[in-house]
Amino acid sequence: MARLITNGIVVTAADTMRADVLIENGIVTAIGSSLAQLAPQNTEVIDAGGCYLFPGGVDPHTHLDMPFGGTVTADDFETGTMAAAFGGTTTIVDFCLTEKGKPLSSSIDTWHRKAEGKAVVDYGFHLMISEINDQVLTELPDIIKQEGITSFKVFMAYKNVLQADDGILYRTLQSAKQHGALVMVHAENGDVIDELIKQALAAGHTEPIYHALTRPSILEGEATGRAVRLTALADSQLYVVHVTCEEAVQQIAQGRLEGYNIWGETCPQYLLLDITDLEKPDFEGAKYVWSPPLRAKEHQEVLWNALKNGQLQTVGSDQCSFNFKGQKDLGAADFSLIPNGGPIIEDRFSLLYSEGVGKGRLTLNQFVEVIATRAAKLFGVFPQKGTIAVGSDADIVIFDPSVERIISAQTHHMNVDYNPFEGLAVKGEPISVLSRGEFIIRDRKFVGTKGSGRFLHRKTFGTS
Ligand code: URP
Ligand code: ZN
Ligand code: ZN
Ligand code: ZN
Repeated sequence: MARLITNGIVVTAADTMRADVLIENGIVTAIGSSLAQLAPQNTEVIDAGGCYLFPGGVDPHTHLDMPFGGTVTADDFETGTMAAAFGGTTTIVDFCLTEKGKPLSSSIDTWHRKAEGKAVVDYGFHLMISEINDQVLTELPDIIKQEGITSFKVFMAYKNVLQADDGILYRTLQSAKQHGALVMVHAENGDVIDELIKQALAAGHTEPIYHALTRPSILEGEATGRAVRLTALADSQLYVVHVTCEEAVQQIAQGRLEGYNIWGETCPQYLLLDITDLEKPDFEGAKYVWSPPLRAKEHQEVLWNALKNGQLQTVGSDQCSFNFKGQKDLGAADFSLIPNGGPIIEDRFSLLYSEGVGKGRLTLNQFVEVIATRAAKLFGVFPQKGTIAVGSDADIVIFDPSVERIISAQTHHMNVDYNPFEGLAVKGEPISVLSRGEFIIRDRKFVGTKGSGRFLHRKTFGTS
């Protein structure tokens, strides 16, 4: 069915304009005024008066249905993407974990099975690289071309679990350069963190706050700098996920200043929460355990400025949800056993609008850039995703900037028993959300279909 959205204000990373949007066969076919005459018969007209029309959010960092820390994330591709849709996100790129000694293709098949028939928004996969050998090096070019998986993830932390060494990172950077992929790193010095954790536990420190105290920002800065230098040496391309601190921002900024292909992502939790949250009594601090950890408040200003001045380019959710009861409490007697991560996929978009645009930290266009457009470009789905333009998928958020809402686990749609932003008032809310021209959220109700999300075969790095 054709649809015409009238009276809204279209916002892209470049422009803000009062315009109508015509959608045919899931694609935007015209943007302008007086489009009714172009519209086919039986076009549904939607009045978006008083609302912004934003491109659907692109979340480049999710972990759905992922085994981690001795348990599995509480949100799978059904609940996670539904929550994303409610929050205005219409594209996600999820991390496909791999296992040493197993063909990469079998892990990719596993991830396809997790998502197929469940996802309600479009999705791609990043591929974790944990070893480099002849088989992996042979598989990578095929995965890039046949599967359209054009980004790899290397963990520099989580020793003895996910961590890879510098040699693996370097050879991944070389292979990515050769075949057209983007390398992502979780940048923390996992070896030194492992020593600090052992020392803290030996001294009898078991509370959640020690999670943060054993992962100081200097170790994130060090690993980020190392990854930047290895990227320079390989003349490759690097995306640093979940940047939390000034030390890491400085390393990324320096690499960019020297002309290297380096990008950085931060997340709402690092912009808005801080290390004191881990000190909450009755083990509640466990709700705020992420790696890298929440930092001292001073770092927040650095991160906001870095988004504004372009030193950091994207905001991901790092959605990785675990229930407080039954999952986070695996670490009740030992902070190092608390599953790392939190539920953010739903509120990423509104938090960034409310705290960013609403508080004068970002312009409307900068908001769109960091919440959708830049990630679409870096991860090979632009201009199909990440903008409102003729020829793009009609992934559109009808967003009312005047509505106020209190974030709460009572009303969120994520499959988890707490919300780290409980009680926070946000101004501005996605009212309706379209994915490829079909409503998935209409007047705040889910009207989509389980399994309607499609796998995105993404373009190689640098061609989007
Ligand atoms: O604490 C976090 N960030 N959990 C998710 C896994 C990761 O490191 O991204
Ligand atoms: Zn496939
Ligand atoms: Zn990570
Ligand atoms: Zn993550």
